[in-house]
Amino acid sequence: MKGIILAGGYGSRLHPITLAVSKQLLPVNDKPLIYYPLSALMLADVRDILIIAMPDDIPQLSRLLGDGSQLGISLSYAAQPVPQGLAEAFLIGADHIGDDEVALVLGDNIFHGNGFYDLLAEHRRNIDGCVLFGYPVTDPERYGVGEVDETGRLLSLEEKPEKPRSNLAVTGLYFYDRDVVEIARQVRPSARGELEITDVNRYYLEAGRARLVTFGRGFAWLDAGTPQSLLHASQYVHTLEDRQGVRIACLEEVALRMGFIDADACHRLGAKLSRSGYGEYVMAVASELAG
Ligand code: TTP
Repeated sequence: MKGIILAGGYGSRLHPITLAVSKQLLPVNDKPLIYYPLSALMLADVRDILIIAMPDDIPQLSRLLGDGSQLGISLSYAAQPVPQGLAEAFLIGADHIGDDEVALVLGDNIFHGNGFYDLLAEHRRNIDGCVLFGYPVTDPERYGVGEVDETGRLLSLEEKPEKPRSNLAVTGLYFYDRDVVEIARQVRPSARGELEITDVNRYYLEAGRARLVTFGRGFAWLDAGTPQSLLHASQYVHTLEDRQGVRIACLEEVALRMGFIDADACHRLGAKLSRSGYGEYVMAVASELAG
């Protein structure tokens, strides 16, 4: 399975912060925002990942993450000069996806909670159609909303409905089978001129091949699109990290635990950052898991 992180966009709700820097490079507590969606793909055992971003942001993203080899993964970069909708990811990423399945994650989405790895492992295999991930919210009218039957099959999908049929918001993590590029090619721009991912998902829905997996109680899904949600995300991560002494979305730790790198390599990565608490943590994890 290939991976795509959609890390473009104007980030206009965060202006002026994002006038000169990508939203995905802003800090969420102790690490850049993009670490969180990248760690989600790595936990899904996805190792060949394309990062799509505004052209000006690619040099900085690549300075941060390189070609991924230090983490035992492969990272490549592609430009989306104008944010023309989430479904454009499949057109820009068509060569990268090839004849494979693909996991797409939005660059400003944070997923965290018990059982995330198991849930990803359960649903990443033998995808027939698409797998969306739903999160119960109190204000579904602000989101794409999905309705499911008791087997998890998607029954309806509505974009920002006035009268939502469920409280399940569709989150920014999606798994697709090999048909997705062809389907995306058939999508026409919406009234606001964007290639909407909902139209791709609706195609699968109408074919009876869309599933919606629900995150359980105690799971956290956050995005960092506004000053308030960015602050809340930092507070959430800080509270957990401070209290438990573990770090969320520590890429070096995820790479080690997934078996992408060994403990020595992990320790070396931590040593390069040793003046920060993050670096100390990476070294401590490597020492603990060595041998
Ligand atoms: P949004 O939050 O919808 O858009 P944005 O990041 O440009 O922010 P704003 O609405 O404040 O202007 O996008 C969600 C994520 O998807 C975010 O990480 C940016 C990314 N994205 C793209 O990379 N390309 C696109 O065409 C769109 C619409 C979003």
